[in-house]
Parts: sequence; C-alpha cells; structure tokens
Amino acid sequence: MKRLKTAKGRKVSSTRWLERQLNDPYVKRAKAEGYRSRAAYKLIELDERFGLLKGVKAVVDLGIAPGGWSQVVRRKSPSAKIAGIDLLPTDPLDGVAVLQMDFMDEAAPAKLRAALGVNEADLVMSDMAANTVGHPQTDHLRTMALVEAGLEFATEILRPGGAYVAKVLAGGADNNLVAELKRHFTAVKHAKPPASRKDSSEWYVIAQGFKGRAD
Ligand SMILES: C[S@@+](CC[C@H](N)C(=O)[O-])C[C@H]1O[C@@H](n2cnc3c(N)ncnc32)[C@H](O)[C@@H]1O
Repeated sequence: MKRLKTAKGRKVSSTRWLERQLNDPYVKRAKAEGYRSRAAYKLIELDERFGLLKGVKAVVDLGIAPGGWSQVVRRKSPSAKIAGIDLLPTDPLDGVAVLQMDFMDEAAPAKLRAALGVNEADLVMSDMAANTVGHPQTDHLRTMALVEAGLEFATEILRPGGAYVAKVLAGGADNNLVAELKRHFTAVKHAKPPASRKDSSEWYVIAQGFKGRAD
C-alpha cells in the first residue's frame, strides 16, 4: 500500500485521491494495457455481461473524454464507425470523430449524426456525469436530464434491435425513466460493474432490443 505524506499546499482530500489512484488495480491495468481511463473496464465488464459490443458497426459515445470507452469499442470492433462528444477536449483517437461541445446544446444531435456518417447506430452509450454540487437531489436531477437527453437521441438514431447504455446515480433510474425505457426497448436492466467504485453511487442502465421508431 503506497502512502503519501500530505504535501504542503495539497489538501487532505486530494492526497487521498492520489493515494487511491496509486493503489487502484484498475488504474495499474489501464496503464499496462494502454487504456486512457480506468473507466474502460466498466464497459469491458458490461460487455462481458450483456454482449453490448457484439458485431457493432456504428457507435455513439456520449461523454467520450478521455476516450477509454471508444478505445474498447475500437479494439473489439476495428472497423466500427464511432462518433463521440464531450465538453472537454479528447486527444485524437484513430478513426473516431470527436466533437467538443455540450451534448445539451440543441445543435448537438444533428452534428453527432453527421460525424457518425451513417443513418443508424447499433449502440448509444453515455458515461456522462453532471458536475456534482453535493446536493443529492440536484445532482440526481442533473444527471437524469443527461440520461433522458441521451435516450431521446438514442430513439432517433438506433436501428431496431439496437441498445442504449447510460450512467445513472443513486441505485438506478427512477420509475418514469424505467417506464420510458421499457416503452422503447424489450429488455431493461441495471448493473454496477465491478470496476465501478463501491463508494460511488453510479450504476448503469442497460436497455437492449430497440423496438424501432413509429415512422
Ligand atoms: C466519466 S467521464 C467519461 C469517461 C469515458 N467513458 C472514458 O472511458 O474515458 C464523463 C464525461 O462526461 C462529460 N460530460 C458531462 N456532461 C456533458 C455534457 N453536457 N456534454 C458533453 N459531455 C459531458 C464530462 O466532461 C466527462 O468527460
């Protein structure tokens, strides 16, 4: 176990964060295996359980930075088209179209569709998290707004049979969201992959078998 002396000027909380990073097996694995984030293992584990990446040809990555999830897609499906969006810059990733903008901007869906270069996607995945303000209800509402916007976009771009996976907080999606997901998908599940830290309230909702658009 590596322990750090609290350096002058470094807050106790950031020393703890650094200590946890240095001792985290997923951080070590990500470094050894060339992934940009430990978050990559959450998608790997969700894929092992739900087969999300099987045969995918077009994938949208909401909250792409720094790029771990898209790396996982690329390794699993080398010819898949991938488009991602993030508020933060993302270092270039081979064959991945990246937009640096707010997904909540009304122009974002059309730009993402154009960046993907095809009309339909097999998978829309969202690892977006709103910056938490420490007020649980506010954090929950802000994250839900992202999940719902992701769902609306997913229903516009997925091919029938496609899937939507999104990060949710506090034990899962609320009843309204689950009902909405069930309206559009044949199977809706919740999971907390082992790589998701036990002390974090994040979970993932996995919606598979898109029923298709009415039009
Ligand atoms: C946990 S990180 C994603 C990590 C990524 N899955 C990986 O494996 O590298 C969440 C990202 O969501 C982004 N994000 C949050 N709100 C957003 C928004 N409204 N529009 C675009 N990106 C957003 C954040 O900037 C952050 O980079």
